[in-house]
Amino acid sequence: MRLIAGFVGLGASLLLAWPAVAQVSPARQDRLREMVAQDCGSCHGMTRKGGLGSPLLAEDMARLSSEAVIETILEGRPGTPMPPWKTMLSRDDAAWITAYLMGELK
Ligand code: HEC
Repeated sequence: MRLIAGFVGLGASLLLAWPAVAQVSPARQDRLREMVAQDCGSCHGMTRKGGLGSPLLAEDMARLSSEAVIETILEGRPGTPMPPWKTMLSRDDAAWITAYLMGELK
């Protein structure tokens, strides 16, 4: 049952993220991958295992909804060092990064 629920959940989140993710051009995807490693990596670790910021591996993301991660990326976490990225990232960019962090994209 749990396995089935997992598949349904993954399917649903892929489906939800897909329209936004499809808007991101291949060149932009390269830039976003680089940004996750360098800019996000300066706090979360280049391999996303954590540092000043919490680990962002797929297993850490699993407890969060895609929408919550997108909001965190765009708005930051007030009162913590997590900055808002909305001046640099569109909602589609944030949705792409979210799917990438969740291990749904390469
Ligand atoms: C200046 C340091 C810093 C940078 C740069 C940074 N973060 Fe964060 N981030 C944090 C901290 C610290 C937290 C933990 C906040 C808290 O205590 O709730 C966090 C939390 C998060 C969370 C929530 C994780 C969870 O388990 O609740 C996500 C998602 C996230 N960051 C994504 C990103 C992404 C994507 C980028 C790059 C676009 C980024 N962060 C760049 C410091 C940073």
